[in-house]
Amino acid sequence: IPVDDFDLVIFGGTGDLARRKILPGLFRRFCSGQMPAQSRIIGAARSELSDAAFRRDIKAALEEFLPKDSFSAKEVKAFLDQLHYVRIDATGTEGWGALKKLVRNDKDTIQAFYFSVAPSLFGDLAERLHTNKIAGPGARIVVEKPFGRDLGSAKKLNSTLRDHFDESQIYRIDHYLGKETVQNLMAVRFGNMLFEPLWNAQYVDHVQITVAETVGVGGRGAYYDKSGAMRDMVQNHLMQLLCLIAMEPPSHFDPDAVRDEKLKVIRALDPPKRDDIVRGQYESATDGKGYLEEVESNDSITESFIAMKLAISNWRWAGVPFYLRTGKRMKARTSEISIVFKETPHSIFDKDSGRHRNILSIRLQPNEGITLGVTIKEPGPGGMRLVDVPLDMTFADALGPEAEGVPDAYERLIMDVIRGNQTLFMRGDEVEAAWSWTDPIIEDWTRRGERPKPYDVGTTGPEDAAVLMHREGRRWLDIK
Ligand code: BG6
Repeated sequence: IPVDDFDLVIFGGTGDLARRKILPGLFRRFCSGQMPAQSRIIGAARSELSDAAFRRDIKAALEEFLPKDSFSAKEVKAFLDQLHYVRIDATGTEGWGALKKLVRNDKDTIQAFYFSVAPSLFGDLAERLHTNKIAGPGARIVVEKPFGRDLGSAKKLNSTLRDHFDESQIYRIDHYLGKETVQNLMAVRFGNMLFEPLWNAQYVDHVQITVAETVGVGGRGAYYDKSGAMRDMVQNHLMQLLCLIAMEPPSHFDPDAVRDEKLKVIRALDPPKRDDIVRGQYESATDGKGYLEEVESNDSITESFIAMKLAISNWRWAGVPFYLRTGKRMKARTSEISIVFKETPHSIFDKDSGRHRNILSIRLQPNEGITLGVTIKEPGPGGMRLVDVPLDMTFADALGPEAEGVPDAYERLIMDVIRGNQTLFMRGDEVEAAWSWTDPIIEDWTRRGERPKPYDVGTTGPEDAAVLMHREGRRWLDIK
């Protein structure tokens, strides 16, 4: 789908996110013909760089972060020609005149300003865009997580942005919402007759959401140690996944209809009980890269793993536990949501055939796809023996080459900004509601100085996480 002419300014244009995700994403969209020839991408940052030096740096980033042979030198050159650079002082006056000259402010050009900088600079940037009359009335502002570190700071950020821009201009990125399967989840739920009638407490036993990573905190220790898994992953990514699973059908697939429903889920979340939460911290006896070594601390009590059982207090989900877990340096990299249905109310088969249940698994990564476990008769002459088989919809298999062109989360989200579609972005009240729920939990840990349980790298987390399930006769699905 072609997009209208745009100018996109990336504050923090030489930073890690810009080099790793934003510019490679834009380049891929450029190659798909989604960047009009007169559109500009303007990197703005503190360092002194010429356009040529900025382009050289971005060329190196494309080579580093995109698969080799996925593009030609000609495409790279044509893309780089649309890039510009302005040295800017976010808190001073330097560079703003130059920026004003580069960014078109007319009704035919879409303006987007990506704040890929520390949140403490959001206010300065917003104010300068405004007072220098660079941003027009339809300008779009894109901001990244972390959006605050608690309710108070999130409220402050929201009000700083809203001093200069309307909510309809603010795009808060949660890159999990840009993942292909996450949107497919909505298509599966609301585009089929099959699932929605069963999507409730009468038929669902429980829901599991796992986001397991194999990487540790690595070079991000200084940031991560002040955040932990709850702030870094649960308050945003896992909460968003939970909302999409649990929300009521919106009346339309439009931004506010979807976000209203998500907000209701967050507001219906009960505060979890203490013993429904397990916090963990990885240790390594072998490679010297346990959590404490990585963050260079002897006594950090920040969690790198969390498992929790949540309850949603509404009619649809009464009594259905939602189990969430996420952690670093675990056994495998998997992000998966599983809806585990109840057993049939009565089995007509003899005891040997066992009891079976349907599980709908939505895999975000790797091998994006959706699998429905169904029970069938084991083929052969052995009588009526039941087996569970997967009805598999791995997108790469089902869709063939079409699946290969699937844009990465950032590509999709940036293009949604240009199209002016806020459906996959968090609204200010959603973010605040998520912090209202998270804050008391974190405050409780901090007050009690609670130590996370150690777990060995390459495992599924602390033993207590398994107990959280076992004590109720359930178990976590494998992390593969
Ligand atoms: C980020 C977190 O938001 O998401 C990281 O800050 C985490 O700690 C990352 O590693 C995971 O994203 P993905 O897309 O690799 O699953």
